[in-house]
Amino acid sequence: MKVLFASAECAPFFKTGGLGDVAGALPKALKEKGVEISVVLPFFTAMPQHYQEASEEVTHFYIKMGIHQQYCGIRKLELDQVVYYFIENPDYFDRENLYSYEDDGERFAFFSLAIIEMLTKMNIQPDFIHCNDHHTAIIPFLLKEKYQNQAFCQELRTILTIHNIEFQGKYPQKMLPEIFDLPLAEFEQSAVLDQTDLNFLKAGILYADRVTTVSPTYAEEIQTPEFGCGLDVVLQQEQGKLSGILNGIDYELNDPATDSLIPAHFTTDDLAGKAMNKQALQEKMGLPVQADIPLIGVVSRLTHQKGFPLVLEAFEKLLKHPVQIVILGTGDPALEEQFKALATAYPEKVSTKILFDLSLAQLIYAGSDLFLMPSKFEPCGLSQLIAMRYGTIPLVHATGGLKDTVLPFQPETGSGTGFSFIEYTPEALISMVNTALSSYQTANDWQTIIQNAMAEDFSWSASSEAYVQLYKQC
Ligand code: GLC
Repeated sequence: MKVLFASAECAPFFKTGGLGDVAGALPKALKEKGVEISVVLPFFTAMPQHYQEASEEVTHFYIKMGIHQQYCGIRKLELDQVVYYFIENPDYFDRENLYSYEDDGERFAFFSLAIIEMLTKMNIQPDFIHCNDHHTAIIPFLLKEKYQNQAFCQELRTILTIHNIEFQGKYPQKMLPEIFDLPLAEFEQSAVLDQTDLNFLKAGILYADRVTTVSPTYAEEIQTPEFGCGLDVVLQQEQGKLSGILNGIDYELNDPATDSLIPAHFTTDDLAGKAMNKQALQEKMGLPVQADIPLIGVVSRLTHQKGFPLVLEAFEKLLKHPVQIVILGTGDPALEEQFKALATAYPEKVSTKILFDLSLAQLIYAGSDLFLMPSKFEPCGLSQLIAMRYGTIPLVHATGGLKDTVLPFQPETGSGTGFSFIEYTPEALISMVNTALSSYQTANDWQTIIQNAMAEDFSWSASSEAYVQLYKQC
């Protein structure tokens, strides 16, 4: 089984979020299952210099995009036994950031064309192209509408994984003739157009052989107007090929027994190191060092999706409890300012760092007692999985992957791995925190929850098996 995994970002080269983590970890896990996998990425010069230098140019050619011929270099790098191909074009990918440029549509149209052209030029013949999010979602459409007469396309199957349906890649329809060389008239009635825009993600949903998203609950949710961002009807139509497969996390990188980024190691049998991490975290964040005060951690993009407007509404009430709250993240400038102001107003209780800092993030996962993730919607979420692995109990909104991975604690039976709230209101959030804090005060319960959370298996092993089965059925 040969799979080409196409993504716009991939750890450890470059990433802005969860897609990069998944693209970094899933291919390795698939390799272990015997899948012959390679990954194709843009040659973003935002990646560390040593990776750029370690990659070698294997070939180059030109791609016709409307009236222009665009240079396309292919570079190759092997890392941890996975082959990575990089599509090089300095005009498109030698930029400071990965996204948010005016010509993003053209950049990812080029990337998608280049992936297909690379197959013929290099005589690579995968059985599947596994596309991810809107950046590469146009590939299934191109294979069936532009390259359909070419021999290599006949057996080629496509999978599209949606990591977040909010981002769809909508570009003026003139892209069809001007970049893809396809007659606009033929597509005027086609569902790939949203009014006058070509919608990459919608095209992917319509044309891919299978569509997945990153949790079973999100697969249901995106078929409703509330979560579908305008694609709910199309997803209902295509529901026969839609499924949800939970993400995993990298269990080697995220291991409290060996993590080189945290000051003290620990295991389920000996949690002494966790208490030392808590102390280190309190010191680092400038909070009073106190072992018995519940410490709530947040590592997140500070955005609307992640639920922070709700947290702000609930904040004063949350602070009535003896708690400490540490917040690490960047995002919406207005939210950043508000959380900074709260830290100034309550220096004994709140500490905010507006940063992207991998080691501090790891210390928060390891040293907090509770981990707050009140996302309005959450396709899967990876942070709650990391938190549980470090015995830090998630406090979540029961949506998407959060609902699928955090099981509410039941004091009567001692089952459960965290706490959740259903209605998306500040009152429900506060009531969940109250419940969690009273369990925190009951030493036995708290030990049980920690053991339960740490005993869960969110490694890629199970999830990658689900992808293998999907490829087999496709
Ligand atoms: C997106 C989603 C997140 C998911 C990640 C990886 O970032 O917002 O929920 O975990 O993609 O699939």
